[in-house]
Amino acid sequence: MPVPAIIFPADPLNPRRPDPHFAWEARMLRELGGEHHLVDHDGLLAGRAEEAVRRVPRDSGPLWYRGWMLPSARYADFAAALTARGGNLLTSAPGYAAAHELPGWYGVFEGATPASAWIPSDGPAAPGPAELAEAAARLGGRGPAIVKDYVKSRKHEWREACYVPELSDLAAVGRVVERFVELQGEFLAGGVVLRQYEEFEGAGFPADGPVGTNGTSGMAGTSGPAGAAGAAGPERADGGGPGAGGRAVEARVWWLDGRPVLVGPHPDAPRQAVEPDLTEVPALVRRLGCRFVTTDLASRADGSGWRVVEVGDGQVSDLPRGIDASALLASLIAA
Ligand SMILES: Nc1ncnc2c1ncn2[C@@H]1O[C@H](COP(=O)(O)OP(=O)(O)OP(=O)(O)O)[C@@H](O)[C@H]1O
Ligand SMILES: [Mg+2]
Repeated sequence: MPVPAIIFPADPLNPRRPDPHFAWEARMLRELGGEHHLVDHDGLLAGRAEEAVRRVPRDSGPLWYRGWMLPSARYADFAAALTARGGNLLTSAPGYAAAHELPGWYGVFEGATPASAWIPSDGPAAPGPAELAEAAARLGGRGPAIVKDYVKSRKHEWREACYVPELSDLAAVGRVVERFVELQGEFLAGGVVLRQYEEFEGAGFPADGPVGTNGTSGMAGTSGPAGAAGAAGPERADGGGPGAGGRAVEARVWWLDGRPVLVGPHPDAPRQAVEPDLTEVPALVRRLGCRFVTTDLASRADGSGWRVVEVGDGQVSDLPRGIDASALLASLIAA
């Protein structure tokens, strides 16, 4: 059986090398005896998939990707371009969409994750008041909520474009959603999602929102490096004042074929110690049916247990800086 290789994005300034963000993963892979290939991420984003994969050798067999997020349609082009060269991306395009976009995984994780309602959009336009009222009603119509798209939030613009203090104040919901859509611009993924706010351990006062350690999460945005910085923005640009609360303590669990191959902190707090309770999660991950996924878990502040904050495709989930990813990479090339 051929051993899977891993495709990384190439450094835009030096296309023969991995993008600096992924260089350490490529190095670790090499130390483990694994092989990598490179793809032109900007080419993929621009819809030039065939050209973007030209450095991947023909008939390369099974392949994983570890790189920047791609919109699901661009991932489908990527997979097709590899198939045309005799490669086989081990996460199919439908599998990628299922793990990457909230509506793809929500049905499986419902009950284990905050209640959510979404409004599909055709382009970067905010939903109208009737659609918002209807989505808010699906969440019970009252209480605090958060706004995001199918993939990302604007957690660093918490008060302005993420946190809704009271769903029954539909005018205020409309303002936060409009600002969110405006800031996401062309990178709005799929549509607008409203989620019931839940109090997580370490989150401090909801009005102050989550605090990142570095102001960006490496994989932020569906837009690659340039958009990534833009999507995350400066740390807590409109965050709380002195003494404001911290961020929820989140664990990121990496699953391969239904088994947790790496349990670590969220990349926003790479030194955080985490010990999530995984009792309920394996069955859900297996039901989702995607081979390589991540789940971000947070503990409820009232001690009532761990919740799935979000699910992601393992290929485009960021690894915390400094984590030992050798077990994860070894599992991928043994899969
Ligand atoms: N339903 C919720 N209740 C309370 N806090 C939430 C909820 N959803 C999200 N948050 C907070 O907002 C943060 C961002 O939300 P989420 O993880 O869904 O978005 P993201 O932009 O995809 O983040 P990531 O950097 O993990 O990709 C979470 O880490 C958590 O602190
Ligand atoms: Mg998250």
